[in-house]
Amino acid sequence: MLFRNRFLLLLALAALLAFVSLSLQFFHLIPVSTAKNGASSKSRKRIMPDPVTEPPVTDPVYEALLYCNIPSVAERSMEGHAPHHFKLVSVHVFIRHGDRYPLYVIPKTKRPEIDCTLVANRKPYHPKLEAFVSHMSKGSGASFESPLNSLPLYPNHPLCEMGELTQTGVVQHLQNGQLLRDIYLKKHKLLPNDWSADQLYLETTGKSRTLQSGLALLYGFLPDFDWKKIYFRHQPSALFCSGSCYCPVRNQYLEKEQRRQYLLRLKNSQLEKTYGEMAKIVDVPTKQLRAANPIDSMLCHLCHNVSFPCTRNGCVDMEHFKVIKTHQIEDERERREKKLYLGYSLLGAHPILNQTIGRMQRATEGRKEELFALYSAHDVTLSPVLSALGLSEARFPRFAARLIFELWQDREKPNEHSVRILYNGVDVTFHTSFCQDHHKRSPKPMCPLENLVRFVKRDMFVALGGSSTNYYDACHREGF
Ligand SMILES: *[C@@H]1O[C@H](CO)[C@@H](O)[C@H](O)[C@H]1NC(C)=O
Ligand SMILES: *[C@@H]1O[C@H](CO)[C@@H](O)[C@H](O)[C@H]1NC(C)=O
Repeated sequence: MLFRNRFLLLLALAALLAFVSLSLQFFHLIPVSTAKNGASSKSRKRIMPDPVTEPPVTDPVYEALLYCNIPSVAERSMEGHAPHHFKLVSVHVFIRHGDRYPLYVIPKTKRPEIDCTLVANRKPYHPKLEAFVSHMSKGSGASFESPLNSLPLYPNHPLCEMGELTQTGVVQHLQNGQLLRDIYLKKHKLLPNDWSADQLYLETTGKSRTLQSGLALLYGFLPDFDWKKIYFRHQPSALFCSGSCYCPVRNQYLEKEQRRQYLLRLKNSQLEKTYGEMAKIVDVPTKQLRAANPIDSMLCHLCHNVSFPCTRNGCVDMEHFKVIKTHQIEDERERREKKLYLGYSLLGAHPILNQTIGRMQRATEGRKEELFALYSAHDVTLSPVLSALGLSEARFPRFAARLIFELWQDREKPNEHSVRILYNGVDVTFHTSFCQDHHKRSPKPMCPLENLVRFVKRDMFVALGGSSTNYYDACHREGF
């Protein structure tokens, strides 16, 4: 079939592009671990790969395949790179759940037949997959805060349920876990051999896909996955804002942002035409088709190599997909320019960042609890955090995306602590708004913890432009 051939070609092309761009990135990087002493690390030139200022990518299919994050050979990553006189103190990991079944159906079409059971002889595969299933199927005891107890521990439906994690999603996080284990446990000995439950801090939203993603990551990460040492807290809010969710100004930013989105969509006549065509194919009103958010479903078709649906009026096709995806990319670009989403993000991400620096500060005081924190979350969690940190140019969180905060101590100056920020394995520390120019002025290979603390405690609110200097005032600003 023409579609298949073209699809394969595109897939091959995307894989090649991804490989080339990755190789280029790493070609420019001088890994910190090759610096054998402080002197050479000081003279070392830091040439960053620039995920942020890559040439404007216009290929919607290439972008979509990056989003799928189809597991392939182990990727290289920059996590844990530091001069030898730095000691790793704690690690804070934010993940998006792995590949999932769509949340919406395209009306009046057969939904894609994807099997959500976990089987060894189906791709993608991970060597720990069977052990993961057998461990999970033995049950968990009391490892979860209510209501997480009622969720299944791994995906298990022969025809996926809506939003269910797939085998791809499990494998993505087993891989993430294994990668972090090699770096943080084997190389940097983050946890002692006799580690205990209180050295982990685990939190997830109440969806099966986030809990299962967190479990898969931990299963790949921990040397012995002992249910007695696992305790997942439940987070009711996708912003992970716990007790500080009430913030009227944040909601106002969000409403304005949604209005911007709506107006941009109206301006795009090609998009309207495409929705119209697709609506005709599936024989529902255009409004209904649009409300069914077809891109979510189409991405699933693409990520799983299942051809787009057909009816007797015709087929949804790659051209439709490209138009909608291109609009999404344009929408993200305008979102960065208009900065309404930034306002939303600064307020939305404050509670979780505040919690994170609190955890870091306790670790700098020598406390040995919560050395490894895992937040199993959603795109709507990671996206505001990225934006708030000033990483608004970073790509939209792909399936199984990971954003990591590393806390380090300089053994030569034990009172000095530094942070590194990594997004999908790329060191983005010096792209954050609180450490943007730091490496130009200082020979230090990382960002001082104080910079991050100052940002979260005060500068985040200053960035909003009002006169507020704390979360409560910024959330209740009058006349916004
Ligand atoms: C996509 O599906 C076709 C036919 O079902 C198959 O021949 C091909 O190998 C698949 N491609 C990938 C990348 O899995
Ligand atoms: C920030 O964290 C501190 C403890 O580290 C806490 O007392 C304070 O209430 C938090 N603020 C917000 C807005 O979450």
